[in-house]
Amino acid sequence: MNDDHQNSPDVVAAPAAGPVRIGLLGCGVVGSAVARVLLEQGSALQNRAGAPVELAAVAVRDPQKPRNVELPSGLVTNDARGVVSDPTIDIVVEVMGGMEPAARLIIEAIRNKKHVVTANKELLASSGSELMAAADAAGVDLLFEASVAGGIPVVRPLKESLAGDRVRRVMGILNGTTNFILTRMSENEESFEIALAEADRLGYTEADPSADLEGHDAAAKLAILSSLAYGAHVVTGDVEREGITKVSVDDVRAAHDMGYEIKLVAVAEEVDGMVSARVHPAMLPKTHPLAAVRNEFNAVFVETDHAGELMFYGRGAGGGPTASAIVGDIMEAARSVSGAFQGPAYHHYDEKAAIRAPGEAAVRYYIVLSVLDRPGVLASVAATFADSNVSIASVRQEGHGQAATLTLITHTATEAQHQETFSRLEHLDVVDRIESQMRVLGTDEV
Ligand code: NAP
Ligand code: HSE
Repeated sequence: MNDDHQNSPDVVAAPAAGPVRIGLLGCGVVGSAVARVLLEQGSALQNRAGAPVELAAVAVRDPQKPRNVELPSGLVTNDARGVVSDPTIDIVVEVMGGMEPAARLIIEAIRNKKHVVTANKELLASSGSELMAAADAAGVDLLFEASVAGGIPVVRPLKESLAGDRVRRVMGILNGTTNFILTRMSENEESFEIALAEADRLGYTEADPSADLEGHDAAAKLAILSSLAYGAHVVTGDVEREGITKVSVDDVRAAHDMGYEIKLVAVAEEVDGMVSARVHPAMLPKTHPLAAVRNEFNAVFVETDHAGELMFYGRGAGGGPTASAIVGDIMEAARSVSGAFQGPAYHHYDEKAAIRAPGEAAVRYYIVLSVLDRPGVLASVAATFADSNVSIASVRQEGHGQAATLTLITHTATEAQHQETFSRLEHLDVVDRIESQMRVLGTDEV
């Protein structure tokens, strides 16, 4: 370990004295989730930002409207221009959506030397290059992780982590609403209309749902990803587009029978030095990683020369996931405001983490027991689990003459409770031996 580096004053600069002040433009599905994170996790965010982070103003259309978050009094205003010109505000977060007044407000904020965070794919996919040029000229950050695939970090990996590689192809499920509808049609044979109404109720749809259904939303996101992947401007109009309105339940069923899933797929690739970008419904073999992406989940599958195939997966819509990406960007911008603080790294941690004892881990087990096949065996095996407070989720018995095999899966209990059960089972006279035991992961319980 290099102690000089650890103590180097160049690595950790003193955080800014005052708080970093945030002006939020919009407090709908996404804005209210962002406000909640900023208000509830203020002190945790301070360590990552290098300074306290304070929600200073929230601009909306109608200040009287009830909100999904309790805002301190005096924060809400309908004067968005006042927010972007307020000299005490450091970072403007635009989550109003639409082209205007969002574009004008972002430009004004940039001119006023404020860092900007936005989730507005529609605006970025048409005017991203002008906005970036304005931010470069003003020397401020324009960050937009939430504009593509909601809570999935994909903008930063393409911009930074893969900067040393060549992207051959980007293939994604970029629209939560249409993926939700296609999943419901595939798995429940639910009608298009019912599935759409549910997506709307859950807050996934755009104000105009045809933006989702006709592929405009996915096309805008693909334009942003293509620009990042190929280092040249791609706008929504460059993306060939077809939506899902012609896909029927019969198509989905037939695809299923042949081993395929129908998905709205966005594809960008470089062919002979030219970018090809398109969004359309496509049949994917069920074995393809994107075929397993269900409901409102999004995924981006990236093929590169050196890293090979990568997949980024998660929730692409909804307030919480989108707020996660936005607050991540706020942290980056706040670090720019607070000085040369590069973000938390090992040398910033004061304390050793508290490590939980291995026996305390919550686990489920699959257990196979060889037992005698006679009355009362199942009851005494079950009682042994109960003695250690381990509940049995399922049990199957297969007989083999005098002997039988019991296959059990437990509900969640601690590792220590399970180990106690196993040692009791080993001494139980009706148990010949424990044939197999293995932890079960990936269920809803753990
Ligand atoms: P939303 O629920 O419709 O909220 C929009 C907010 O902006 C509302 O609070 C509205 O005020 C305010 N607003 C609109 N026009 C305004 C104006 N002219 N002046 C002041 N305030 C104005 O929209 P959203 O779903 O949160 O989406 C916001 C942005 O995030 C969009 O760019 C969207 O594409 C993007 N995004 C959304 C999701 C998602 O899952 N929803 C995911 C990723 C990205 P009132 O409440 O007073 O009407
Ligand atoms: N309407 C969008 C979707 C919201 O369904 O994916 C996230 O951008």
